[in-house]
Amino acid sequence: MRKSTTLITGANGEMGRGLITLLHEKKYNNIIAMDLNALDNSISAYCYEEIIGNILDADLIDQLHSEYEFDSIYHLAALLSTQAEFSPRSAHDVNVGGTLNLLNLALEQGRSQGKPVKFFFPSSIAVYGLKNRAEKQAAGIISEDRFLGPVTMYGCNKLYCEHLGTYYSQHYQRLGAEEHHCYIDFRSIRFPGIISSKTVPTGGTSDYIPEMLHAAARGEAYKCFVREDAQIPFMTMPDAVCAIQDIIVAPMKNLNQTVYNIRAFAPTAEEFRQKIIEAFPQARIDYDVNEKRQNMVDSWPADTDDSAARSDWNWNPQHDLKTGMKEYLIPGVKKIYS
Ligand code: SER
Repeated sequence: MRKSTTLITGANGEMGRGLITLLHEKKYNNIIAMDLNALDNSISAYCYEEIIGNILDADLIDQLHSEYEFDSIYHLAALLSTQAEFSPRSAHDVNVGGTLNLLNLALEQGRSQGKPVKFFFPSSIAVYGLKNRAEKQAAGIISEDRFLGPVTMYGCNKLYCEHLGTYYSQHYQRLGAEEHHCYIDFRSIRFPGIISSKTVPTGGTSDYIPEMLHAAARGEAYKCFVREDAQIPFMTMPDAVCAIQDIIVAPMKNLNQTVYNIRAFAPTAEEFRQKIIEAFPQARIDYDVNEKRQNMVDSWPADTDDSAARSDWNWNPQHDLKTGMKEYLIPGVKKIYS
């Protein structure tokens, strides 16, 4: 019998590091961590095996299938939204082609094990597409099924992959000779912007909030690339990774949908700036608006409705803006830059 393992792609990214740390705390000792780059020292000891490689490498994916038995796959590797607008074709290759490779791997694994493999896919508020600020203001808090007309490559990629995941788990090869089997148990969360006290994201559009915070803690000046009144939902990284684990362990019978919104707080850029200034009175943060990036933020909802996640799998963030700053973000950044 092969050891049952957990595959995490994008393992060295912000979310990968947070998730691996959480799984280590929960005593998982079977993590196969895959990334383009070597794992950071803070997490490498928590992994059973480290694979440096590309999710687009079909031979490597075949090799993973032959060498390991995966009971779950957390597919976190992606190009984020700002990076994707500079290289839409590569974003499509990685975000869609890479996801298709991982879904095929999960399918083959489920087929050979005779039971469904759990598959976690991080989606995003970028799947929503509001036409402009006026429509955004009028729309207010948005539930999962509205305004699904993304205007970014990243948003298009994420929305399509949500559908692909549902197709692979519920409708795969519906005209094939084989009776329908569920080989993939696909579960997805549409994340808001995420703020970590340990790392700064690269290539995202919600990066203005974490960048502002980390710059203030380093004593550096920061120019925020969106307007004072720019507003989208956010959450802290510990809440984001706990949510991943909560949805993955939730009994299947409780899940009435495959894709869920979650959020914790939705400050404007200025509200967040004020919170930073309370903690770092010397912080030098002003605004130098990049209209193009601002338009992307204007196409995303000011807030999302997470009531389905709350009722189906008891989603309940630990941090609101006040406690997130006081108990996690401010002490965390002070510690790393002191
Ligand atoms: N936070 C991501 C980004 O800005 C969106 O999911 O790209």
